Amino acid sequence: MVVLGIILVSIALLAMNATLLVLNTRAAMGSNEQYARSYEIKRTLSGFQSIVTTAESGQRGYLLTGQIAYLEPFFRATRSWRTELDHLRSLIAPNSPRQRSVAELEKLTADAVRRLEQTISSSDQPGPAGKADVAGTEHATATMDRVRAVIDELMREEDARIEALRAEVLRDMWVTVGVALLTTVVVVLVLLGLHRLLRRYVAARAAAENALLQANEHLNRLVEERTAELTELSQHLIRASEEEKANIARELHDTLGSNLTAINMDLNWIARRLPKDVPEVRERLQRSLQMLSETVELKHEVIEGLRPSHLDNLGLAFAIRSHCQEFSRRTGLDCDVDVEEDFDDIDPAWSIAFYRIAQEALTNILKHAQATSVKVELRRENGGMRLRITDDGIGIQQNAPPKTKSHGLVGMRERMRQVGGVLSVTRGPNGRGTVVDAFIPAEEQKLSAAV
Ligand SMILES: Nc1ncnc2c1ncn2[C@@H]1O[C@H](COP(=O)(O)OP(=O)(O)OP(=O)(O)O)[C@@H](O)[C@H]1O
Ligand SMILES: [Mg+2]
Repeated sequence: MVVLGIILVSIALLAMNATLLVLNTRAAMGSNEQYARSYEIKRTLSGFQSIVTTAESGQRGYLLTGQIAYLEPFFRATRSWRTELDHLRSLIAPNSPRQRSVAELEKLTADAVRRLEQTISSSDQPGPAGKADVAGTEHATATMDRVRAVIDELMREEDARIEALRAEVLRDMWVTVGVALLTTVVVVLVLLGLHRLLRRYVAARAAAENALLQANEHLNRLVEERTAELTELSQHLIRASEEEKANIARELHDTLGSNLTAINMDLNWIARRLPKDVPEVRERLQRSLQMLSETVELKHEVIEGLRPSHLDNLGLAFAIRSHCQEFSRRTGLDCDVDVEEDFDDIDPAWSIAFYRIAQEALTNILKHAQATSVKVELRRENGGMRLRITDDGIGIQQNAPPKTKSHGLVGMRERMRQVGGVLSVTRGPNGRGTVVDAFIPAEEQKLSAAV
């Protein structure tokens, strides 16, 4: 607000300065014209004075010498004084009081000239020995003196006018210089103040930007730290869960498995020794044996689900093939497996990651895709490995809001991240179905080998 006020005052001063400059220039031009006119008036007055003096000297010369030659300038003067006076009148404003002085001058001059002419015409014998009209000449000289007095008065007036003009121009000039100086000082001060303000503003802005940058960096560091912690935690959970599942699978296999085998052997022993005349007991025993065999099958499925024995014993390719066959058998969907080799040499961490991804992708197809066929591909690519599961179902809804209770895709991504790979889930060819693509680059192979 204060800054705006100061700027407005500066602008007002600059405007005043410019206005004064324009006005003074106009005034100076006017003064210049007046100067010129005053000098022209003075020049005309002196011209007029010299004409009347010429007329007077001519008359005197003639009367004193009697020579006609003196009359020539006299008559020239008597013919021209009116022209000069008219010029003088035109130089003075029509309503100026000086026009009265000019009129008086005209009257007096006309009177003086008439008297001079009379003295000439009344002097029959001019010359040193002749008789001149002395009384008439003295009268004419007295009138001429009055003419000269009026001319002197007009001259003085013009001088006073010129002096007043000079003083006025000088005063205007000083006022303009003063205002220009004041404006310059104020504007310079305002500019200096603005410069300081600008510097302060720039410094404050830079400080704010810096603070924002630091806050952002801090936030980024925090996010990175938290992400690293969460990744670490999720990977730990995946590892722990795999280990836990393996432990449970082993425990079930070792304890439950051996117990069920012992029960099976005992029941078969009883069946062999059972008398033939107890059909009801035999029937119940057969049912128990049947149920036992189903329980053994169930145990097998549970153990396979927890930790596929194929994976550890027969390798990734076999495990995936057998999982797909089982999937086809259960769902009736056509599952085409394209697995080039056995991949016995790959890192066990890669095997379990690929296997779990295939498991979850097939489960998702069963749950969501409404597909009629599935293709599973596993191959080496540029030293890395790629698993691709393609279905021809409805595809994942593009702009569907994320489901808070869905963890399958997140888990797949996390498993890939754990082994340094990437997972992409896209639409299938022609925008149909879904493609789950898991890829682990070659460098990760070298890294895990080095570890
Ligand atoms: N092959 C697919 N075809 C169509 N939609 C799919 C397919 N796979 C996943 N989806 C969609 O993506 C969503 C997220 O899948 P995700 O596996 O993460 O969760 P979920 O299967 O719903 O639950 P969870 O796997 O945690 O039991 C699914 O709910 C489904 O809408
Ligand atoms: Mg799922």
